[in-house]
Amino acid sequence: MGKRRFSRHRLICKFAAEYSGMAKKKLERFQEIKAFPHVFEFNFQEISRGFALKGNWHSGFFKNNLPIVLELGCGKGEYTVGLAQRSPEKNFIGVDLKGNRLWVGAKQIETDSMSNAAFLRTRIDFIDYYFGPQEVSELWITFPDPQPQKTRERKRLTSMRFLDRYRKFLKPDGIIHLKTDSKSFYDYTLEVIAENRYTLLDHTDDLYANPEARPAELTEIKTHYEGIFSKKGFKICYLKFRF
Ligand SMILES: C[S@@+](CC[C@H](N)C(=O)[O-])C[C@H]1O[C@@H](n2cnc3c(N)ncnc32)[C@H](O)[C@@H]1O
Repeated sequence: MGKRRFSRHRLICKFAAEYSGMAKKKLERFQEIKAFPHVFEFNFQEISRGFALKGNWHSGFFKNNLPIVLELGCGKGEYTVGLAQRSPEKNFIGVDLKGNRLWVGAKQIETDSMSNAAFLRTRIDFIDYYFGPQEVSELWITFPDPQPQKTRERKRLTSMRFLDRYRKFLKPDGIIHLKTDSKSFYDYTLEVIAENRYTLLDHTDDLYANPEARPAELTEIKTHYEGIFSKKGFKICYLKFRF
């Protein structure tokens, strides 16, 4: 009995040590993010006064006039970093609420001294506070939370609530890409596109069935969640459209 209590106590200590190690790592990452010149964080006062770079990303940050591409719900930012490496003729900004995840991509940008990529830590619900009319050329939505419950439709990143926000800062011919493991989210987005008579430019519910048919970046860049769901046997869906 005494022995069992002892080993349980050891287990709890081990868990507490691991947990505090994880918490420490997170705190260190949050601190590091604050020091990165290429990461912008939600600051309510700045937002309410008006975000300084809104409408000024080209002159105020990128120092060029190249098209701006956003990755929404970027997590660790695989598309932001991967596309920025492949396309020096464009600028990329990854957007996510979770600083701990976003740190991974931000660190890589620092390590590789990349000047055409940045991250924005905020809720996508406020995304139109950060970009001016026609400031953005393209959007990537990579493996968004599918929010399958009907009551959570408003939270889907391709619901009208979000699309109306994107429209405020996308160029009129701006393209939206969606990559997802969720067939129901893919079908839902196709319905939104059809109902609103948007222009569907490409779609497949099995991207890897014929990978040569599409640009290499679609299959050669894989996100963290794509890896998890591909291993579980989920097919990867892709579509692109414009308003
Ligand atoms: C399933 S993960 C996918 C992450 C990454 N794109 C990938 O494929 O590995 C969804 C991401 O979207 C972010 N997210 C979901 N809703 C959001 C919102 N309203 N505002 C900001 N980030 C959001 C989450 O924090 C999370 O990192």
